[in-house]
Amino acid sequence: MTQNDGFDALQSHAQRLRGAGIPDLLRDEPGREHGYSVRVGPLYFNFARQKYDRQALQALLELARSRDVAGALQRLFRGEQVNVTEHRAALHTALRGELTAAPVAQQAAASAREVRERMRALVETIENSDITDVVSVGIGGSDLGPRLVVDALRPLRSDLRVHFVSNVDGAAMQRTLAQLDPARTAGVLISKTFGTQETLLNGRILCDWLGGSERLYAVSANPERAAQAFDIAPGRVLPMWDWVGGRYSLWSAVGFPIALAIGADRFEQLLAGAADMDAHVLEAPAEGNAAVLHGLTEVWNRNLLGHATHAVMTYDQRLALLPAYLQQLVMESLGKRVKLDGSPVDSDTVPVWWGGAGTDVQHSFFQALHQGTSVVPADFIGTVHNDDPYIENHQALLANLLAQTEALANGQRSEDPHRSYPGGRPSTLILLDALTPEALGALIALYEHSVYVQSVIWGINAFDQFGVELGKQLASQLLPALQGEGTAVADPVTRAVLEQLQRR
Ligand code: F6P
Repeated sequence: MTQNDGFDALQSHAQRLRGAGIPDLLRDEPGREHGYSVRVGPLYFNFARQKYDRQALQALLELARSRDVAGALQRLFRGEQVNVTEHRAALHTALRGELTAAPVAQQAAASAREVRERMRALVETIENSDITDVVSVGIGGSDLGPRLVVDALRPLRSDLRVHFVSNVDGAAMQRTLAQLDPARTAGVLISKTFGTQETLLNGRILCDWLGGSERLYAVSANPERAAQAFDIAPGRVLPMWDWVGGRYSLWSAVGFPIALAIGADRFEQLLAGAADMDAHVLEAPAEGNAAVLHGLTEVWNRNLLGHATHAVMTYDQRLALLPAYLQQLVMESLGKRVKLDGSPVDSDTVPVWWGGAGTDVQHSFFQALHQGTSVVPADFIGTVHNDDPYIENHQALLANLLAQTEALANGQRSEDPHRSYPGGRPSTLILLDALTPEALGALIALYEHSVYVQSVIWGINAFDQFGVELGKQLASQLLPALQGEGTAVADPVTRAVLEQLQRR
């Protein structure tokens, strides 16, 4: 679907470039390997292996101008109600900085600061207690961000270990608790709404296992409900706000498990890195703006070249959870089929995002990336300096990262069709100087802003997620039937499967 008016000027470029070889693009534009790169603090982006040229990129930048991406970014940072379907601002940027003088954003930043101070005090209390383990219970945006950052930045050895339980499958909780001592464990229940089935059920198991709520903490935009449901003292309940979307919330008190795992100071560094990226995205002109270029590249690959999926390959084991995190951030934000005014979109929106950690994935799905019939544009993410002592391994890791991007782009001809590599498979390279809290904060913020840029081009709301509601409603209607309450079930297939479940 590409009838979008704004794309007309791009169609001829797409036709011209669809069959172009990436080495040809490099040959035809001397200096392209440097000219398509951007540095933002500890992050380096190289777009030279994307299948556009200067003219096409200019047309993409013109599209961004015609959609007023710069104005939309201003409105986001100023705290205007960009989440039009829920009449809310999306002020995740105010959780980590104060880039605008807009009173709403200033007020939000002040509230965030206040809560961070309270959070720091709670972290210190726990650090100075005999607690050795913390179980964080939450799901979606109340889990994936903290889980990613803790896995990426946790120290090798720590007196305080943080565990995550999200799935309503009791096996997840059982396996986690089996290794722990209830007398030396604390729990954090995280839920923006405090109405999420998984978190309420898992929270109850944890509370009972702990023998009460004495070592239970909560984070919610509905703090009264949280305090009441689990009888948690108000001093141990940290607030968040409706102007923070769940998948944009790791910078708020939702990041409590992060502060526990890496310390409150390093949590502040994560926020500072994100704030540096915010400043870049808000201030840099579109042609040198990493988030605008990344977002436009996604639009180019999706709408003009017609690619149905996008992969993220992390050549740093500590970032292995990034693809799972991005799946929610990108697909919950951009998986929409109507525009802000409710009319149908006139172009395809989000492709399927997926990925994994190199070099493991080279030995699983890379065959299909190199020789399969579908082209999968990808982000390859690596780290210049490693923190482990195994230098040769790190060199090998980087050699693989370079080799794979080169092989995918350039291919290699052979007389034998089985041994021929078509090439022409685009990728963006993203290098972090090192996996510091600042660099990770900047990387995550980059993706948040790229998502927003795409939403502005497509004219959709990146901040609601009504698509997840129907399944949730049906699940709560079906639960009584599974509990043997003889509830009438209308759908014949569901009824037949229920009969099977009950019979066996
Ligand atoms: O899956 C839908 C969703 O609403 C996500 O957007 C959200 O991050 C997750 O559920 C958890 O919601 P809550 O934080 O309210 O428990």
